[in-house]
Amino acid sequence: MNVTFNLASELETALQDAAQTAGLEADALNTEVRTADPRHGDFQANGVLGYAKARKLNPRATAEQIVAALPEDLLARCEVSIAGPGFINFTFGADTLLDWLQKHDTVDHLKSGASAFYQGQRFVVDYSSPNTAKQLHVGHIRSMVIGEAICRMLSFCGAEVTRDNHIGDWGTQFGKLIWGYKNLLDENALQTDALEELERLYKAADAATKEDAATLDAARAELVKLQQGDAENLALWKQIIAISSSAFQKVYDRLDIKFDHEHGESFYRDQLARVYQELEETGLSSESQGALVVFHPEHPRFKTQPFIVRKSDGASNYATTDLATMLYRTEHFKADAIIVLTDTRQSDHFQQLWLTTVKWYAAKNYPLPRFEHVSFGSILGDDGKAIKTRSGDPIRLHALLEEACDRAYTLVSEKSPDIPEEERQEIGRTVGMGAVRYADLSQNRSSDYVFNWEKILSFEGNTAPYLLYAVTRIHSIFRKLDFDPATIETATAAAPETPNEQALARKLVGLAAVLNMTTEQLRPHFLCTYLYELAGAFSSFYSADKVLVEDEAVRARRLLLCARTLLVLETGLHMLGLRTLQRM
Ligand code: ARG
Repeated sequence: MNVTFNLASELETALQDAAQTAGLEADALNTEVRTADPRHGDFQANGVLGYAKARKLNPRATAEQIVAALPEDLLARCEVSIAGPGFINFTFGADTLLDWLQKHDTVDHLKSGASAFYQGQRFVVDYSSPNTAKQLHVGHIRSMVIGEAICRMLSFCGAEVTRDNHIGDWGTQFGKLIWGYKNLLDENALQTDALEELERLYKAADAATKEDAATLDAARAELVKLQQGDAENLALWKQIIAISSSAFQKVYDRLDIKFDHEHGESFYRDQLARVYQELEETGLSSESQGALVVFHPEHPRFKTQPFIVRKSDGASNYATTDLATMLYRTEHFKADAIIVLTDTRQSDHFQQLWLTTVKWYAAKNYPLPRFEHVSFGSILGDDGKAIKTRSGDPIRLHALLEEACDRAYTLVSEKSPDIPEEERQEIGRTVGMGAVRYADLSQNRSSDYVFNWEKILSFEGNTAPYLLYAVTRIHSIFRKLDFDPATIETATAAAPETPNEQALARKLVGLAAVLNMTTEQLRPHFLCTYLYELAGAFSSFYSADKVLVEDEAVRARRLLLCARTLLVLETGLHMLGLRTLQRM
């Protein structure tokens, strides 16, 4: 592993060593290096402030001590300055920028700058995870799109990623569904649109059980029969799952998502007894009104709000399967880290799950993985309320994706009517899917966001069309020259010189640091902002500095910048799950 490919981590190591040399408590100093505001430098370290404050030292003086101990060879390549309350800024010389540009000629070499972050760590990512027998609606897209981007970024940074679609296929809905199927089925409707019919059956059965106690009992009996392994109900259950799966699969195919496993809740049904037993034997659970529950006395809310792990009728629930899932992922996948994506409404559940796991694992001496509940807000309509169709129903995801591709196709056809029809269709799909995805990823996931077609399909601003267009623009430069940017001659190119060349190069060298921050916080919008700014830096460079000039040396060094911008933009967009285009 050649870590000099990563300038930020090279600085972090140098800072650690310097702090040691200067006689400071190096281990206690946060030497994290981030990309800086370009007015101050390429990178900044601001951990000195906290360190000095905690020890009542003068932060500037502490920073000066560290800087004085930095190695000569680094100071020769990099200007170091101290700003404000002890922030250390680093500005690399043009030769180092050139060195970076020369070395980062392929996706693999870009990877090598980041691959040290999670080398050898196993991540299980649980995302999408819809409930069976329901249509996917627009709200389901967040988990899919953010989850897939997180998987791709983590693997890029060296992690071993297992994608697990934790389908909700064992819930109480099956009692009603099976009762509905047996009593209310419309065979024709099942032939035409099976999932639609299942959804109707569920609603009708649900209504019937509310009206009539005998029906409710009948539905419960169907569920018990299923859970006890009744052959007829198991066969029906399997059929229902198959119908759902094939509908989900169509959406996954469109979004280029492939899971390694689809261990739904039902997968764990034989592993629940162990959960009850271990929680009881370790004294973590108690009986409360016939149910098995776990309280967390140290927590303000969960000391009275129980985590119910077995219902009073003896049935398992969401908590039970999630505890069994936790165990399976630790024991079978040997996960170092587990990430689950759902909207923020499930925060309590996952907090309780984690509190319980920590105590359970400690009592049993199981190795504790890292756990992250990656939560996100809702998608809103223009009125600021949860997005709905005109008739007030949730918007089907399938229909939304279809509309995105249609709208993008229309836009492309207006802009570039000369491109052949079939290619325009393909461009429409790429831009449409990219726009929907990017709209979701470019916002801080914790917030709600307003879904607006004009905005997400605009060629201006932080959007997919803007970035995809930037990519095609660079492709067209190389097309004019009739050569492949991957084969560019780098050895003889000179260092970036003009202010715009340098600004662009400085943006490029920040990629690894940005990925570090993005994966640390599991917030893809950091990468989006970076790519948007990179495209902006390219745009300023391209309008100020002509690329295809007579002077061969100037042309070579500018072409090198074009080639690397293209590589970083494409790699970044692919990591976010977007496809890119040669022209549009
Ligand atoms: N099926 C759940 C839902 O639709 C999400 C499951 C998330 N994963 C988990 N391990 N609980 O809300």
